[in-house]
Amino acid sequence: MKYKTNPVFPKGFFWGASSSAWQVEGATLEGGRTSAIIDLNSQTKKPYADNSIAADHYHHYKEDVQLMKECGFTSYRFSISWSRLIPKSDRKVNKEGATFYDNLINALVDAGITPIITLYHYDMPCWVEEKYGGWSSREIIEEFDYYCRTCFKLYGDKVKYWLSINEQNMQIVYGDWLGVSKGCKNWEKDKWDINHIMNLCHAKAVIACHEMVVDGKIGPVPGYVPIYPYSCNPLDQIAAMNAEELTQKIWNDTYVFGKYNTFIKNYWQAHEITPDIREEDLKLMERARIDFIAVNCYRSDVAKDPDPSYVQLIGLNKSGIKGDFTYPNIPGEYALTRNPFVEVTDWDWHIDGVCMRYSLRYLWDHYHLPMIITEAGYGAHEELNEYGTVNDVERIHYLRDYIYNVGLAIQDGVDVFGFNPWSFTDLLSTGNGMAKRYGLVFVNTTDNEVRDLKRYKKQSYYWYSRLIRSNGTDW
Ligand code: BG6
Repeated sequence: MKYKTNPVFPKGFFWGASSSAWQVEGATLEGGRTSAIIDLNSQTKKPYADNSIAADHYHHYKEDVQLMKECGFTSYRFSISWSRLIPKSDRKVNKEGATFYDNLINALVDAGITPIITLYHYDMPCWVEEKYGGWSSREIIEEFDYYCRTCFKLYGDKVKYWLSINEQNMQIVYGDWLGVSKGCKNWEKDKWDINHIMNLCHAKAVIACHEMVVDGKIGPVPGYVPIYPYSCNPLDQIAAMNAEELTQKIWNDTYVFGKYNTFIKNYWQAHEITPDIREEDLKLMERARIDFIAVNCYRSDVAKDPDPSYVQLIGLNKSGIKGDFTYPNIPGEYALTRNPFVEVTDWDWHIDGVCMRYSLRYLWDHYHLPMIITEAGYGAHEELNEYGTVNDVERIHYLRDYIYNVGLAIQDGVDVFGFNPWSFTDLLSTGNGMAKRYGLVFVNTTDNEVRDLKRYKKQSYYWYSRLIRSNGTDW
């Protein structure tokens, strides 16, 4: 399909960027914050990188907001650290923590930037883990509800856009990577109980937001990786559908329809899995009506009919050397493979702007809910050049293509109200620290050497600024 003009973005479109507390703030033991499980992983387990300083946003937030304003941002998505706000099991709010987020929100609002807050982005407080075993116990539900209600009470007058749990699907699909499977005896079965508890926490957050925040809107944040069939072999198509269900659709269906779909119920039955799902849980899920979907979409995947003779689990590329990714082969379900039509990053992530249009169209067709892009981004090995910048042309190409395709999806009729790529400043990658940079702004530090943490605008910052100021017409 051809359009006569470049895509036109709606007036008031949210142009910004994204971050999460543990990846950007640093100051992990300052201002009354207590440790989160992810800090301990970061600080002890390679290839995680120490997050005790990260981008030091905790001490640089004013400068960072100033840079966002200068860039022309109209939105900024960040997360609250649960253990900064409520550091202990006594439920007392840490004043210093509350003030930090209050100051950040005020600085954003004063700069004309709409704050969008994620309630939970991988940073389980150690005290919640110790007291309840993290997501494994139903007791976390009331504790999470209390935390969410505290956030809504403190900031709901100024913050109207809320996100529940970041990439719940990825936390279950990659349980060991993001730490959720810790302590589980039989992950393949236990993960569905954990997932159900997360669904109930999400539902509580949605209900509380609607009760407490005047004009508040809330949505989930699926990590969305659209799956294309490898060929027109009908079995490749079924494999793509299986992969879609098992890595994302069963989550999205549950968020939107408030109940588990028949695919996952049959899957559980076939695998003799009986999660503890109670009548009152289903009523709660049914009541939690989301307002929009926040989409994280970096890449696409390709599925084909699996080889029945062997099992290969997925192996993420942790080195940043192309080719280190291991594609899975799961008999009876699906296999994934390299897409020969697109390039990959150094971490073997397909670079595919069209997947943005495809994802938005797919999600719109299935759910008819407004969407906002809360992540997309180009991770790269980078260093400051002699001119005090980074000439990140690949990131500009990536963003141009992805944003252009968001525009095309809007022209196709999809309701999209913002684009917030990962990330504003460089921050820690989940697995590769500062060795895998995503920022529009370079932060002068590395995983091995703490430098002065100064901010330097990359070329993508200037390009993005021009695009924002023209509301998506100056490419
Ligand atoms: C998203 C997460 O899945 O991907 C972020 O929400 C993460 O927290 C981002 O940083 C990029 O992934 P990675 O592994 O390159 O940091």
